[in-house]
Amino acid sequence: MAGPAGIEPTSPSSKHGILSIELRTAINKFMIINLDLENPDSDYLLSLVDQLEKKDSSVRDAAFEKFKRQQFYSPLLNQVMFEPYWCTELKNYVDRVYQPHFTHTLHPVIVRLKNRIPGHSKLACYMPHTDRDRAIGLNFCIKPGGPDVTTIFYKERANLNIKNAPYKSYDDLTVASVNQLNDKKWVALDTHCYHSVENIADERILFSLGVREISLSRFKSIYPNLIV
Ligand SMILES: [Fe+2]
Repeated sequence: MAGPAGIEPTSPSSKHGILSIELRTAINKFMIINLDLENPDSDYLLSLVDQLEKKDSSVRDAAFEKFKRQQFYSPLLNQVMFEPYWCTELKNYVDRVYQPHFTHTLHPVIVRLKNRIPGHSKLACYMPHTDRDRAIGLNFCIKPGGPDVTTIFYKERANLNIKNAPYKSYDDLTVASVNQLNDKKWVALDTHCYHSVENIADERILFSLGVREISLSRFKSIYPNLIV
């Protein structure tokens, strides 16, 4: 099965360099692939978030205050708070259920992208960025975050060793594809390509397994049995 179909952008970035449908589809195959993996126990994962949320709320508030002081932060965009959750129990779950399918080490996290200002004139976005600590994200969407949430991929890629500046302005990027990755299905994403998430109404929750050592194209050749 081909990657999720691209649709026309409806985001703040839509005015920037939209590619032809043919080129976009071709690029998309290198950025997003569908996987054949068993669905996780979403209720269990949400219960872990509940436990961890109570435990670490002050840490997350401090992180958001720090985030707001960054150069790229703009209150006009209504940027989400990125909340990562992990614990030994999560790691044990992944080691038992998913790790046996892989020779590369999986680095699990549950991510919540939260609209901190629900009454804002714009729905929340997770602005364009690359993932610093992994080359591939194997994602399962537990909660989409609203009916119109889109995941945008851009043509530009980051230096693989990038550490300190994962964010980029919409103005400096060219949209490659706009996707609805909101179903309860596994997808593998090239997270060294710039990507953003748009139109988050409340909270989006993803279960994500990071792979650090290999590119998405290598992943496809090493794990053909997992590709849909
Ligand atoms: Fe990301």
